[in-house]
Amino acid sequence: MDTVSKLFDLAKKTRLNAYAPYSNFKVGAAILTSNGRFYTGCNVENASYPCGTCAEAGAIAAMIAGGETKIAEILIIADTKCILPCGNCLQKIAEFGHEDTLVHSADTQKIIKTQTLKDLLPQSFALKEEE
Ligand code: THU
Repeated sequence: MDTVSKLFDLAKKTRLNAYAPYSNFKVGAAILTSNGRFYTGCNVENASYPCGTCAEAGAIAAMIAGGETKIAEILIIADTKCILPCGNCLQKIAEFGHEDTLVHSADTQKIIKTQTLKDLLPQSFALKEEE
């Protein structure tokens, strides 16, 4: 199986575990790192709404816990036309990605659109120079 299909399958499966009783909008995410490893996440909501976390944040936390820091590709999946990372998540992805990092948007059936991080966030705040 190619890496993009694997990202899709992992994100689709992880989305089913999303905890989204308030929005009823389940999101899954899967990351391929520069070392070729995969990490997943889903959104986790909370009765205190701002405490909720996005699927991308979950996948990034899993990647960091796994000892990796470089996002090569990320796939986000939801039951909607074309899910895009929120502004907060774009900043999180920018911390561990680079301008060519691929961001795949998928519905529950297939990838709808693939863009680079630069397409989605042409400029962003950073304290360190890009490597
Ligand atoms: N959500 C994500 O998980 N990722 C995004 O990029 C956008 C929004 C979640 C947050 C919340 O649990 C639900 O989708 C509705 O906003």
